[in-house]
Amino acid sequence: MSTVAPPSRRPMDPAVLVARDQEDVLVGNEIIRHKLSSRVLHWVVAVTFFGCVFTGMPIWTPVFGWMAHLFGGLTVCRVLHPWLGVAFFLSVLFEIFDWASDMRFRSDEKGWWGPKLIRYMRWEEVDDENVGKYNGGQKFFFWTAGLGALGLLLSGLMMWFPQSFPKILMQLAYLVHDATFILFMVAIIFHIYLGTVAEPGTFRSMTRGTVTRKWARLHHPGWYRQVTGEDPRRP
Ligand code: HEM
Repeated sequence: MSTVAPPSRRPMDPAVLVARDQEDVLVGNEIIRHKLSSRVLHWVVAVTFFGCVFTGMPIWTPVFGWMAHLFGGLTVCRVLHPWLGVAFFLSVLFEIFDWASDMRFRSDEKGWWGPKLIRYMRWEEVDDENVGKYNGGQKFFFWTAGLGALGLLLSGLMMWFPQSFPKILMQLAYLVHDATFILFMVAIIFHIYLGTVAEPGTFRSMTRGTVTRKWARLHHPGWYRQVTGEDPRRP
């Protein structure tokens, strides 16, 4: 008679366990940055966004017609695109409710939608020691992404039911939808760059949910101080 060895059960990593439903806490040498529900929501936003991109671009111009094959043809894209758009908007809306309290601008962050943002992108701006959980650029991106999602939804609804609107409004809807999409795409490329290769250690906050102490001290010293009670300038 043969016996089957029981599967070896490794104890669950404590940081991953805590990151299921808590954030802004220190576990060993890691800080929980995004709890599981926030991470899932962020990935629903990302998947529905790219779903809209890949179903929308072949509708926009035949240059991207090859993308339609990913979904079974242009007819399928025309049906899927508006529904994915509604799903994208709703997931952004939930994300706004989830993160709004951390995304309020402080008075000293007001300059972030001007030259400061450009200096930050060029690595000319040194992170100041008061930067909290999110810096001004992240807050700016968060609110403009919300506004962009609303613009895409409203113009998209008009394009879905063109008979219900006068011609001049329809032309405006096309303009708003296309311009918002182009701006959104540029912003998302920068967002992905910053969240991956530009700032190593950031991406894991959206997978594992945690960052290292070192990462937090470097990029978000005010948040580090608040979570650990330690001075971020101390070596
Ligand atoms: C595959 C693509 C994406 C990657 C790799 C990515 C990566 C990340 C990462 C690592 C963070 C955490 C940053 C931190 O904790 O400091 C984050 C936050 C965020 N993501 Fe994404 N993301 C993607 C797509 C999107 C899309 C499509 C949106 C659309 C609205 C979006 C909106 C946000 C927002 C608003 C935040 C919080 C503010 C910020 O950190 O900039 N992300 N993302």
